[in-house]
Order: sequence, then C-alpha cells, then structure tokens
Amino acid sequence: MTRKLIVAITGASGAIYGAALVYELLQRPMEVHLMVSSSGKLVMAHEMKFSGSLPLFLKSAWGLTPHPDAVLKEYLADDLFAPSASGSFRHDGMVIAPCSMKTLAAIAAGFADNLITRSADVCLKEKRPLILLPRETPLSAIHLENMLRLSRAGAVIHPPVPAFYHHPENVRDIVNATVARILDHLNIAHHLIRAWGDTDPQAGS
Ligand SMILES: Cc1cc2nc3c(=O)[nH]c(=O)nc-3n(C[C@H](O)[C@H](O)[C@H](O)COP(=O)(O)O)c2cc1C
Repeated sequence: MTRKLIVAITGASGAIYGAALVYELLQRPMEVHLMVSSSGKLVMAHEMKFSGSLPLFLKSAWGLTPHPDAVLKEYLADDLFAPSASGSFRHDGMVIAPCSMKTLAAIAAGFADNLITRSADVCLKEKRPLILLPRETPLSAIHLENMLRLSRAGAVIHPPVPAFYHHPENVRDIVNATVARILDHLNIAHHLIRAWGDTDPQAGS
C-alpha cells in the first residue's frame, strides 16, 4: 500500500528543511499531503528566493524527478475539510518542518484552528507519528515547556540542530543530515548520510 505522509511548513526560519524533505519523499512511491502556513509562504519566499509552487521550484531549481508513483496533494492551511483534519484518514505520520513557536504552542494547547494544528492534534489523539522541527533561539521557558508537553503527548521533538561529525561541506549537507534523521524516524530507507558505525560502502554518499 502507498505510504501517506503529511508535511507542513510553518513560518519559522528554515523552510529549506521542509523543501528538502518533500524533495526526498517525492522520489519515492509516496503520497505526500503538503500544507504551508501563510507565514511559512512568506518566510520561504524570503529565505529561498522563490514564491509560488514548491514542486515547481523543486523541479526547476533542484532538478527533482519525482517517482512515477509519487503523488503530491497540496492544501491551503485553512482548509479544515482536507483529509488529514479527520482521524478517519489513515496515514503514516506528519512532519512539521520547520515548526514555529506559535504553531508549537497551539499544538501543545490543543488549539486546532487551522489544518496544520488540527492535523497535528489528530496525530496525537490517534497515536500516529508526529515529528516537529521547532526552530527558535534562545528558547524561553514557555517554548521549553511546550516542547516537553508535546514530547510527553507522543510527539518527536526534533530541532534542526546541525551535526558536524559527517563533515558537511555546504548548506544542503547540513540540511540533509537532519532530513536523514527524520526519514529514519519514519522508517524510510535513504542514502543521504551514512549511519555512524556503518562500514557499507553503498551506504551514504
Ligand atoms: C524572516 C522571519 C523569520 C522567522 N523565524 C522564526 C523562527 O525561527 N521561529 C519562530 O518561532 N518564528 C519565526 N518567525 C515568526 C513566525 O513567522 C510567526 O510567529 C508566525 O506567526 C508563525 O505562524 P505560523 O506558525 O502559522 O506559520 C519568523 C518570521 C519571519 C518574518
């Protein structure tokens, strides 16, 4: 059965993480449900210097060749009639990359006022994987308490903190190291980075 994943991009810095994740997922036979908040669109336009369709950008700027069986479904962030707003829609998990402190706070409070926060709320109540890439610095006690609350509720708090033991050479290397760990969490095979201790020459690149 085709795996279904929900990807949300919110208005924290680091839209490239969400873009890189979608780029990876669409190279696999997956159904991706994409939602970008209005602030997410603005920050993405500012940071990545494009506005409009993310899939078109991924094809033209990053050379994306989608898997023939990949399906991308895009939803407006205020579309509460979208499938993922309902617990009856079965899927394999949701990633919010990046996740703003505002969206984090809303999910921690159960304040499901848009498709992103509602879909995350549904993940928690239905015990489906929910991975958040919160991005802010420094973190206030409120941010930290919200993260703790969400972690206790079952979410994976996965801040996009760079590692350097893979010897990244550019921004994409740094971003892909985080994307690789998200794919690990979702049990999706990849060759983005070699797992620590893996001596298989085919692994990583
Ligand atoms: C250029 C820019 C960068 C921002 N970076 C962050 C950030 O790193 N973390 C954060 O929590 N908010 C950040 N914000 C603020 C959010 O965009 C703002 O709180 C917004 O209301 C979030 O809405 P959303 O969660 O619905 O996308 C940034 C705003 C701008 C304009």
